Amino acid sequence: MASTMEILWKQALKTFAGRNSVGYRLCQKNFELLRSLMNKVTAADVRLDRDVLESVQMQSAPMCVVDIFENQDITIAIFILKQGVTMPMHDHPGMHGLLKVIAGTVKIDSFTLEISGDHIMEPNTGYTAIKHPGILVKDTDDACVLTPREKNLHQISCIDGPAAFLDILSPPYDGEEYGNMRPCTFFRITGSIRSTESGEKSEKVQLVPSESPPDFFSISLEYLGPQLR
Ligand SMILES: [Fe+2]
Repeated sequence: MASTMEILWKQALKTFAGRNSVGYRLCQKNFELLRSLMNKVTAADVRLDRDVLESVQMQSAPMCVVDIFENQDITIAIFILKQGVTMPMHDHPGMHGLLKVIAGTVKIDSFTLEISGDHIMEPNTGYTAIKHPGILVKDTDDACVLTPREKNLHQISCIDGPAAFLDILSPPYDGEEYGNMRPCTFFRITGSIRSTESGEKSEKVQLVPSESPPDFFSISLEYLGPQLR
């Protein structure tokens, strides 16, 4: 019988097949099925046990990454954050993403950029983004979704750690669209604006692209779950 991860992987391949081709259009039905499969994934499905989580907490890097699968359309990986660590605010240019917490608790702060046209970040340029209310997410919660427009930027803090989440991104960061380099840009907040638009309170922030923080780095861990092929 196919494992949960194999079923998820096949649905991700189907949903995002041909993602980089000109005529690609996301099939919402496939995406919703993928999201519902993602909601069910547990740490046991990827063989992420307590010993591994505890070893992450003991090593020097703030984050560990377990690469599971990558082709031209999708990336599947697990990110493990040590207690108290924050993955700095970053973007996912032109990408869809699904994030399922499988251990611990994280706080996710998401932002929607106010830009028209393509998502190409220029250095030394200010951007405005809507700041969505931060949410606490744990392993019993559903997967979080980002799209090329909505909530495309986020910052993730480990509140109860070590915390781990499974990530599916499409297309991968290294795509042809940006000359074989779909860059991940980090940001810092330079100011905020509170506004009441159509009766709803919202907060907007001013952002500038920034260097990757020098103290934020990761090491790789081996994937021990079911092979995907
Ligand atoms: Fe991310």
